[in-house]
Amino acid sequence: MNAVPGPVGHPLLGVVPAFVADLLGTLERTFAEHGDLVAYRFGPSWAGRTVYGAFHPDDVARAMTDPAVFGRDTAGFKVIRESIGDGLLTLDGETWKRHRKLVQQLFTHRRVMGYTALMAEEASKVVNDPSLRSGTVDLHDLMQRYTLRVVGRALFGDVIDDIVEELQDLVQQLGETSTARRLQLFTLPLSLPTPRNRTLRDIRRRLFAIADRVLAMPSRPDADDLLTRLRAARDADTGIGLSEQEIRDEVLGFLLAGHETTAGALTFTLHELGRRPDIQSDIAHAADDTLVRATIQEGMRLYPPAHSTERITLVDTTIAGYRVKAGSQILISPWVTHRHPEFWPNPTTFDPTRFLSGPPTHRYAYIPFGGGARACIGMQFALMESTILLKTLLRSYRFDTTSQPLSVRPLLTLRPNGPVLATATANALQPA
Ligand code: HEM
Repeated sequence: MNAVPGPVGHPLLGVVPAFVADLLGTLERTFAEHGDLVAYRFGPSWAGRTVYGAFHPDDVARAMTDPAVFGRDTAGFKVIRESIGDGLLTLDGETWKRHRKLVQQLFTHRRVMGYTALMAEEASKVVNDPSLRSGTVDLHDLMQRYTLRVVGRALFGDVIDDIVEELQDLVQQLGETSTARRLQLFTLPLSLPTPRNRTLRDIRRRLFAIADRVLAMPSRPDADDLLTRLRAARDADTGIGLSEQEIRDEVLGFLLAGHETTAGALTFTLHELGRRPDIQSDIAHAADDTLVRATIQEGMRLYPPAHSTERITLVDTTIAGYRVKAGSQILISPWVTHRHPEFWPNPTTFDPTRFLSGPPTHRYAYIPFGGGARACIGMQFALMESTILLKTLLRSYRFDTTSQPLSVRPLLTLRPNGPVLATATANALQPA
């Protein structure tokens, strides 16, 4: 069988310098050049390791739905686990199964519907935010504050304004430091006191301190929030719940997985909408949520907040016609797959109508929330929260953004590279 094609890369470092300089651009270019499976060498040609980029929806589907062949214990997830502990996102095997069963009870459709009132309340507060009234607004900052308040209130029944700023800051630092650690050729144990390890350990300490503070908050007797429910949740078969430490790790996971991603989805969508006053007006006047949903879906197609994920092959297997050995790292890139020309005509054009005529032609051509058993547990929550915010906001304001392409950074999640400025003009439809 032939070798998997891929870029030649630096003689000693392989693809690392290209990934550090421009991960998404490098993935796009190498996909265009080499096709659906690309071999990326990390390190020297005689001793490096290879990571395989699998971009075709058929292969993404297998990687996400065949746990006998594709595991989750990858180098990237290990780095995340070191920083944020053992929550659903980072657990594997039987412990993951036990947690998922318990946490799933908190995210049923009925439960998520129970949070719509607080989402609507928070959305109307955004409408009155002083930055919007001043006319020029940093969309990313505004969206981060909204999603943190929503996830905070859903989790603890209370606003967590005093930790919003610290969390915003820590998430940025965590993204930068852990991404740099992921791209190292040799990952030194976190216990060694290198400058980067010290920073990462400090970030971890501060994140856990925030989670502990939140867990220590007295809960109201009538509380009906996620935390109260998590503490009360019991496995139907064993009657066993989660320990306080397991709960802390889950809570930190919700805070981190649950706000930055949604904030990104909203920021990117609003940025694109800022050049499309026609769609803004249609959304503001729409009788139902179909168009606003399609617009958010299209925003996440072009800018998937979870821009990449990984799996590891547990046995020798075949991907896209090539033999791949057990123990190989598989890179899945929603960024690239969402631009796959076989599935997306004019892939770089922002066009929400794609999602008006039914689901994508291939289920795994569109993977902003992943798929299979490990699909995002917060998907309904995130979609509901985004729909409510966009609808509320566009009834009160028109947004104008620059025509420059948005500059993004693929850290743990996809983040804008600096503030995302927009001009907000109060709408005649419903004066703010
Ligand atoms: C637009 C917003 C969001 C996006 C794009 C997103 C994306 C994703 C993706 C792609 C995965 C799967 C990763 C993989 O297969 O390797 C995932 C998993 C997860 N997400 Fe989300 N997410 C979002 C919002 C949320 C929210 C609001 C929460 C919770 C409040 C959340 C909690 C989680 C958790 C706990 C997992 C791990 C699930 C498991 O492995 O069992 N996410 N998310």
